[in-house]
Amino acid sequence: MSKRRVAYCYDNDVGAFTYATTHPMKPHRMRITHDLISAYGMLEQMHVIRPKRASPEAMTAFHTDEYINFLSRVTPETHMELTYHQTRFLTLDDNPAFEGLYEFCSISAGGSIDAAKRLASGASDIAINWAGGLHHAKKREASGFCYINDIVLGILELLRTYARVLYVDIDCHHGDGVEEAFYTTDRVMTCSIHKHGDFFPGTGTQNDIGKGKGKGYSVNIPLQDGIADESFRSIFDPVMGKILDVYQPSVVVLQCGADSLAGDKLGCFNLTMHGHAYCVQYFRKVNLPLILLGGGGYTVKNVARAWTYETACALGIEDTLDTNLPWTEFFDWFGPRYRLEVSGNNMVDANLKDNALDRIRTAAMKQLNDIQPAPSVGMHDVPRESVGQHLGFGKDEEEGRDALDESVAQHARLVYNLQEADLASDDSDAESYRWDSDDSMGSSSRRRRRHPRPGKKRMSIMNNQVYDIPSYENGFEYAVSGKPETRRRFFQSVARWDARYQKVVIPGLAGQTLPRATRSRSEESDDEGEDDDVAQNGVTLGKRAVQSDYDEDDLGSGMDE
Ligand code: FE2
Repeated sequence: MSKRRVAYCYDNDVGAFTYATTHPMKPHRMRITHDLISAYGMLEQMHVIRPKRASPEAMTAFHTDEYINFLSRVTPETHMELTYHQTRFLTLDDNPAFEGLYEFCSISAGGSIDAAKRLASGASDIAINWAGGLHHAKKREASGFCYINDIVLGILELLRTYARVLYVDIDCHHGDGVEEAFYTTDRVMTCSIHKHGDFFPGTGTQNDIGKGKGKGYSVNIPLQDGIADESFRSIFDPVMGKILDVYQPSVVVLQCGADSLAGDKLGCFNLTMHGHAYCVQYFRKVNLPLILLGGGGYTVKNVARAWTYETACALGIEDTLDTNLPWTEFFDWFGPRYRLEVSGNNMVDANLKDNALDRIRTAAMKQLNDIQPAPSVGMHDVPRESVGQHLGFGKDEEEGRDALDESVAQHARLVYNLQEADLASDDSDAESYRWDSDDSMGSSSRRRRRHPRPGKKRMSIMNNQVYDIPSYENGFEYAVSGKPETRRRFFQSVARWDARYQKVVIPGLAGQTLPRATRSRSEESDDEGEDDDVAQNGVTLGKRAVQSDYDEDDLGSGMDE
């Protein structure tokens, strides 16, 4: 089997986070996996990367500014207030506001973004991020143990380079967050194989095939309890073969959620380690650029076994591994057999009844027959350069990216500082504030977001029960004991650049300017003449504005650099 250049993303801190003592999601599983991978001597055979942690700006490529700001601020102590008594952002007990939540998210997301960059740059053939794969996270809300959708962020990165991205999800739960994000585009085909029927998140039927331009490009394979290796392959092989044939992806992202393994605490499938890893072997053979991500998986020792074995599959050395586990710090966890294996059990395979698999396979094939093969992509849709370069900043990629990112980051911090000061100084807003009545997508620049309708329901991934979420009004009443978070504007700040005074000013707050600049004088002088470029490219805040001299009456306490 030919060699592949494998990049392995791992941040040593990831295993230190804890959702809650009794919570089924254990970030510690990544550390146990890593130790096994290391003990098997695989690190020497891969390019090991400590990924750059995702910045708030990188996260807002998909998530709303408001949600990212919330995640960056919430703590166990403030979560009741900031979620308006659990009516917004976080869901039920599934997504607690644990200590270090934001850091954990930035590690997970940073890994998937860096994995995508490794492939796009041509530096690796396969990139692995077991801390990623958190497929339930939504644009403006956490769900099913997931807060940031690292998969969507990684795919967005891939779309800079590749024409068509295939996303395959073998987690026991439907990959709803990723499907939703790309539901209306043919640039990404999503295919989720999952349990359906009274099971979280409740979506993912074969009627859900995409919409608009994306119609036909969302594929769902809803299964029943107890699917075993053989029946899984009987549907995986033909469906994937057809997808590769028809869609002709340029790159593949495989979410290897390990709760589809036999004996998982929350899952209900019956795959062995080898049956699960078959999907990795399948796509390795296809020989397209490949990203492997983690996901669910709640029987920790089996998650570690599966992802270790799948790392070996990526390297093509799985047949050489000793099935007796090597010594690690966590060796005791793997008793009584201490072997690299996850066996099936005696569960009944409910998929074998009534030719259910035949019907699902036939429906999937029909859907794939009906789509336009290998949808073409206009060159303008695939910018090969960075966003900065695409917008005309800088001479080379790194320079361009730095210029834009720095500008956007400083603007973001400025606006939040202004908002904090604004709220602190103007209590009357709490009285006069009114929600607008429409704008369901929350995308219009001048409208405020509609609050969730009363009676919102959410399913818990822990027990698959549906719960009523209190209406936002109730949460609002609770929260006004603190301060309502009105006027969250982020990139829609009222702050304006005033050419006369060479300062950013806020209407109604005379004399108030930006916090102190952090760059040196010499750097400023080098940048002279760049402000116009910035303005012409639609970024409302020029560099010079961000670098204005500090005044005694500046707002806030300075930027958080
Ligand atoms: Fe899952």
